[in-house]
Amino acid sequence: MLFFLHKILLLLPPEVAHHWAIFLLKLYQKFIILFLETKKSSSAALHLKEVRKIRFGNRLGLAAGFDKNAEVFLPLSHLGFGFIEVGTVTPNSQEGNPKPRIWRESPDGLINQMGFNNCGVEQFKKNLKKNRLHCSVPILANIGKNKITPNELAIQDYKSLFSMLAPEVDGFVVNISSPNTVGLRELQSIAFLEHLEEVAPQKPLWVKLSPDLDMDVLKELFLKIKSSQCFLGCVLTNTSRQIALQEYGRAEGGYSGEKLFERSLECVALCREIFNEKKSIIAVGGINSVVRAKKMRQEGADLIELYTGFVYKGPALVKEIVKGLADESFELSF
Ligand SMILES: Cc1cc2nc3c(=O)[nH]c(=O)nc-3n(C[C@H](O)[C@H](O)[C@H](O)COP(=O)(O)O)c2cc1C
Repeated sequence: MLFFLHKILLLLPPEVAHHWAIFLLKLYQKFIILFLETKKSSSAALHLKEVRKIRFGNRLGLAAGFDKNAEVFLPLSHLGFGFIEVGTVTPNSQEGNPKPRIWRESPDGLINQMGFNNCGVEQFKKNLKKNRLHCSVPILANIGKNKITPNELAIQDYKSLFSMLAPEVDGFVVNISSPNTVGLRELQSIAFLEHLEEVAPQKPLWVKLSPDLDMDVLKELFLKIKSSQCFLGCVLTNTSRQIALQEYGRAEGGYSGEKLFERSLECVALCREIFNEKKSIIAVGGINSVVRAKKMRQEGADLIELYTGFVYKGPALVKEIVKGLADESFELSF
């Protein structure tokens, strides 16, 4: 049944397919709440009691951008993901860029220029509260600044998102690497990381970086993150503007999927070399098989995330990778 639904979705235009996927997941969510036994214990609360520890159901998570409004993390966890990154959420709701804004690119890639379309933090928090108690895997909130917030004031957006969402989530991912909000990627700097340190909550905190940064710049940022008490590590990587331009001639948007893998792998390897065992790495970018997931693990990733691979291969890929990694749960201290 899931197999056929997934095949039908792939026949629809990409954003229409995404809306239908969310609709179907919402139906599944109703079924779960009505008919399946759910734990009724907030993992956020559990992890708070377990002083400075976060326990992942398994090492495979869903990357940011799929459940932008935190509406369907519960059914997604039932598909087998060991954690879910919801968002990107911004303080105020945003429409995002005009449509069309996602394209399928062969082989097994996507280019998107969504532009942080989301319901805003107030509604996002309500959505989280509604189903958080039923969900037993960690939920990380991916946060970003509003399009109209100038970079000089961006830290205020992150600060308010931290304080609004800290009670509801198990950790945060700071998104300063989306190519679809003008100027956002300039925040990938030591100075901005220092501002983040001043406002960071007592929660696990990762910084999500772009694969298009020079290795020297990445190295500096990794060193800063390593030396800071505030950050638990990095999410590597976001989508690539460079691949969108060089391989598909698109000057706008970010590429994800098949051709991103090598670059993301390179970033993970460099990061692990610098972090040694001190910090954690969540790897994302072109992972669409057990072999690729294992390669990321070998290069030093603690956790793995999917987006485009999940779009093309569907729920079967989740089961395959979880089984292939042959891990049960995974615990991180912070
Ligand atoms: C349609 C789409 C929307 C995305 N939205 C977000 C987002 O809101 N925030 C974010 O940090 N990353 C976002 N991403 C990036 C993914 O989380 C991931 O970093 C990237 O797609 C690389 O992984 P993949 O090759 O497995 O897709 C988005 C990706 C896609 C394809």
